[in-house]
Amino acid sequence: MLIIGYLIGSIPSGVWVGKLMYGKDIRDYGSGNMGTTNTFRVLGKKAGTIVLLMDMFKGTLAALLPYFFHSNVNVLLIGLSAIIGHVYPIFAGFKGGKAVATSVGVLLVYDPLFFVIAWAIFLITLYISSMVSVASMVGFLLITIVSLFFKDLLLSGVAIALTIFVFIRHYGNIERIKNGTENMVPFGLGYKH
Ligand code: G3P
Repeated sequence: MLIIGYLIGSIPSGVWVGKLMYGKDIRDYGSGNMGTTNTFRVLGKKAGTIVLLMDMFKGTLAALLPYFFHSNVNVLLIGLSAIIGHVYPIFAGFKGGKAVATSVGVLLVYDPLFFVIAWAIFLITLYISSMVSVASMVGFLLITIVSLFFKDLLLSGVAIALTIFVFIRHYGNIERIKNGTENMVPFGLGYKH
């Protein structure tokens, strides 16, 4: 299940959608990331929505594997293998995304309540900051804190590890935020027309 989860996570949605539907490698444009945000930025709403759904679904599908195999292995563990695949994809030279959308897809199976809370935190933070990177990092941080209130120690442990990892993956974004040059989306209070 770990190997299948990793292979599912390794599907480089942004690269494949960009190349097959638009003849473009999104890694050569925008932030150079192959995730949802850069796909929206470079290829527009339709491609961005497809990649968002595919990247989330990779996490959801991997997390469902224990059910398919009638296994007691925790869905978070198998979900993690898909997240690792998304970040280090075997099908795209081991250079992948920043772990955000696939992690949210895992949450849907682990506990739909946390999935809804994660989306709510993300959208509120995105509205305030107009920066997907800020919304992503704050989202991971706050989900960790919220999980402590629910006394969900397994989720807290995984969330702490993922939050540290997500911050490291956003190193370039953090530098741009500090310099005032981070990309903004045309949505919310932070966006300057
Ligand atoms: O999920 C990735 C997002 O937080 C930032 O993406 O392309 O702006 O580096 P990007």
